[in-house]
Amino acid sequence: MWGTKEGLDFLVSETLKARYLRKGERDWEDICERVAKAIAITEEEHLGFKDLMIRKIFLPSSPTLMNAGTEFGQFAACFVIPVEDGIEEIFDAIKTTALIQKTGGGTGFDFSQIRPDDSPSLCADGAASGPVAVMKLFNEATEIVKQFGRRRGANMGILNVSHNDIVYFIRAKHVEGELSNFNLSVLVPDTFMELVEADRVGEVWNKQTGMTVGCIFSEIVEGIWRNGEPGILFYDRINRDNFTPALGDISATNPCGEEPLLPFESCNLGSINVSFFVTDGKVNWDLLREVTGKAVRFLDNEIDKNTYPAPEIEAATKRTRKVGLGVMGFHDMLLKLGLPYDSSETLKLAEKIMEQISWAAVRESRKLAAEKEPFPEHENSTWELPMRNAALTAVAPTGTISILAGCSAGIEPVFSWVYRRTRTVGKEFMLVHPLFEAHFMSKLPEVDYNWLLEHVYKHGTLQNVENPKLVSEEEKRIFRSALDIDWKAHINVQAAFQRHCHAGISKTINMPDYAGKEDIKQALIYAWRQGLKGLTIYRTGSRQHVVLSLKKPE
Ligand code: CDP
Repeated sequence: MWGTKEGLDFLVSETLKARYLRKGERDWEDICERVAKAIAITEEEHLGFKDLMIRKIFLPSSPTLMNAGTEFGQFAACFVIPVEDGIEEIFDAIKTTALIQKTGGGTGFDFSQIRPDDSPSLCADGAASGPVAVMKLFNEATEIVKQFGRRRGANMGILNVSHNDIVYFIRAKHVEGELSNFNLSVLVPDTFMELVEADRVGEVWNKQTGMTVGCIFSEIVEGIWRNGEPGILFYDRINRDNFTPALGDISATNPCGEEPLLPFESCNLGSINVSFFVTDGKVNWDLLREVTGKAVRFLDNEIDKNTYPAPEIEAATKRTRKVGLGVMGFHDMLLKLGLPYDSSETLKLAEKIMEQISWAAVRESRKLAAEKEPFPEHENSTWELPMRNAALTAVAPTGTISILAGCSAGIEPVFSWVYRRTRTVGKEFMLVHPLFEAHFMSKLPEVDYNWLLEHVYKHGTLQNVENPKLVSEEEKRIFRSALDIDWKAHINVQAAFQRHCHAGISKTINMPDYAGKEDIKQALIYAWRQGLKGLTIYRTGSRQHVVLSLKKPE
């Protein structure tokens, strides 16, 4: 189906039907009324929240949209559950996970406490099973729960780079289809990255196994090159932003990496569509700060109104009251401002957006602390003035809510200007990006416009259009999509947002299919030096099942 408006409207209505509409609801307004009413404390809040949602300026993440005002009443998208080394503890964690995933939440685990394969066993004479075997149990549980829930559960499996089983772990998804409900990440400290950077790869990292830095690092690089896994998490960087160090170190995140959390903490997410704030080439910063304040109130209310899947989760979450407010529609904002994704102005803008949002969020959290109470562990935190929330900002992928809002996802560049979308709701659509359509349709005669669409669909890019009357050099700079953008520019944008973001950023660093292992190695070192908390690299074509796909060249 060509034609953007009808295609997008159809996609939205299918998504609403598949996931969000409850009994008796007909449309988006009905959903906004249910959710705003459930989350608001006063009538003024109710109307304000509803207005922001109807206009798609701010949207809470899927679990809130699905569950607010229903018997589930579970709003959080992000959880971290500890996994101790013992049969009872492992199965307790699986039960908690099942209860979370039933309501649409995603779970992250640090499996480093599980003793390695072949070590003295849990029972008298059986063999210990190791983290990878334990992860398979969690994976199966997710598979079963999927049939009860409204969306497929997602897990993040994390292992410390010092664990004896690290190589089994890195290779655990080499066979496609294995651990399909998991993302994998290796947790690495600065000392490891320093040795990699200094090329001291021959040094023994793990004295028990004799594994060297070089051996482990090349396994990581190989895995990423093969199929985009594992991701990497930078332990020291994450813990530099641990606002409550007295409560312990952070060693795990939710499935997409944007929320590093303490054991049993959960976090509600919400995203502001930043492209909304551009009018006539200018950004309305006052309005952005005002919307941020309302969004913080929304997310903070959720903590008290939430129905928690387990008492430990309620206790841990209410101790720190973390929320994750982020952005979507960033690339659309750049297009409206006429800025290329890979430009220095873009980096300045990215940093300013997150700085302004974090600043306004902290201001609102202080107001809330004065009106209500500071978060209970405030005295034990690194915040000097009273705050209602220990952390406020994070950038989520916004995989589904950006479709509802009709904007580009999170801080990602547009994947392709012309694409088909498969799998999300089981159908296939041809869609043209609305800002691409608006620009080229008004500029070009119909026959040329149609030629351009065919060309971009076939090649996945307009960078190789040779006729400057069709596409000028300036247009080529502005209409660069994810695969036209160098990996360094991807990382630079993520780093610019990270600088003023309390939690983390979910982002994929795209590389072309011909990228080599040396590129991956350099990207990991560069990302660490730029201060990212973690990263995910994906080399085009290295995995069979991807949600967005371009037409194969003929
Ligand atoms: O757009 P939407 O609110 O549906 O979600 P997202 O921003 O793409 O994902 C936010 C978080 O929801 C992820 O980082 C996961 O923690 C969780 N999630 C999940 O548990 N299962 C999924 N299938 C997708 C997301």
